[in-house]
Amino acid sequence: MSNVTVIGTQWGDEGKGKIVDWLASRADIVVRFQGGHNAGHTLVVGDQVYKLSLLPSGLVRGKIGVIGNGVVVDPKALMAEIDRVTAQGLTVTPETLWIAENAPLILPVHGALDRAREAARGDHKIGTTGRGIGPAYEDKVARRAIRICDLAEPETLDWKLDELLLHHNTLLAGLGAETFTKEQLRDFLTEITPRLLPYSCQAWDRLDEARRAGRRILFEGAQAVMLDVDHGTYPFVTSSNTVAAVAASGSGMGPAAVGFVLGIAKAYTTRVGEGPFPTELHDDTGRLIGERGHEFGTNTGRPRRCGWFDAVLIRRAARVGGVSGIALTKLDVLDGLDEISICIGYELDGKQIESFPSAPGAQARVKPVYETMPGWKETTAGARSWAELPAQAIKYVRRIEELIEAPVTLLSTSPERDDTILMRDPFED
Ligand code: GDP
Ligand code: IMO
Ligand code: MG
Repeated sequence: MSNVTVIGTQWGDEGKGKIVDWLASRADIVVRFQGGHNAGHTLVVGDQVYKLSLLPSGLVRGKIGVIGNGVVVDPKALMAEIDRVTAQGLTVTPETLWIAENAPLILPVHGALDRAREAARGDHKIGTTGRGIGPAYEDKVARRAIRICDLAEPETLDWKLDELLLHHNTLLAGLGAETFTKEQLRDFLTEITPRLLPYSCQAWDRLDEARRAGRRILFEGAQAVMLDVDHGTYPFVTSSNTVAAVAASGSGMGPAAVGFVLGIAKAYTTRVGEGPFPTELHDDTGRLIGERGHEFGTNTGRPRRCGWFDAVLIRRAARVGGVSGIALTKLDVLDGLDEISICIGYELDGKQIESFPSAPGAQARVKPVYETMPGWKETTAGARSWAELPAQAIKYVRRIEELIEAPVTLLSTSPERDDTILMRDPFED
């Protein structure tokens, strides 16, 4: 029996939320360890649809949810989300939600700077969510973040706010954006403190206790390897590491806690925001996949760019992400296509290359080399067993396994929780 860590292997929105919700029935605790409310995870349970950003998906199953120290927490967004899911009938209390007291906060200055910088970047914008994620992580590394534990120490807050404002107001003024006063930030913090502090705790201690007691821990990644700040399509990435190794440091546990790493991959590829995307389709097939897959941002509503499955990128994501098995999602979206292509290599400036380059110019210039196979006419939507899948769909899955050099251990065939095929239980590995 081991713990399980779920990570995205493409550019996000692979269906991590659905898979985490499904796996959570086998877990005791679900832990978010990086990212923030840039994430958007949709869970469909009967006629209820839950859209989560910051809350660990396991809360929907009544499991304990943990927001680890590696997450950047926007307290207003968190409280709004708690109110939203409470109205849907979930119970979120300090007993069921533990937030690491050393997690850094996202403040209004961060969103303002994120948006002002994006506007200033013009054609080279990243297409961020504008939610202050990058600036909040920068402050953490620069040692000027306000962390949840600081809220209990007014004298610490006082000098930290001075330092923070000196930095941010200089930048905001330089960008021609509105600056902030200390009173504004203090009022913001005073308002959220009484609601936020009861959830804060030494989460790593509780997790260690749970581990010793043999509890099963499920780590829920946000974003994906191609958005990882080291391994992704830099600089068109998010500001955290998204690989499985971070589940340990982002929750305060040792590396052995990570356990089985389940990489989530869509049966095709999507991307929101700017940046290279070799297999992107600008034709009717791309539009059809987008419509069938409802490819719009969970919280932002932004349309997602769509394209074929890129086996080269996923092989790399599986390697650097430490993936033990893949959950392949949204197979049903490809139902009825005459032909399906898989990217098996690239061409760069007229030469064949087998791996994805690192420099942004080269990444933007690579052209995919495709292998094309016939599609299937039957429907896979809603299939709950391998036996229900058409032979050609099975061939597609098997070919993907070969190309990415990792086993497909789970398949998802609709947004609904139970439309899932388990080939190998990751908790039993
Ligand atoms: P996440 O960010 O990785 O959790 O993914 P999102 O929730 O942002 O986006 C995935 C979308 O696909 C959601 O709307 C899910 O309800 C939906 N989804 C997940 N798995 C499947 C599947 O197997 N088939 C279909 N058709 N939709 C799915
Ligand atoms: P989930 O967890 C898809 C993208 C943004 C942008 C880049 C940087 O739902 O898979 P940021 O606001 O993080 O600085 O934006 O990263 N991005 C996501 N794309 N799914 C996500 O999360 C994302 N989180 C960030 O669109 O391109
Ligand atoms: Mg999402």
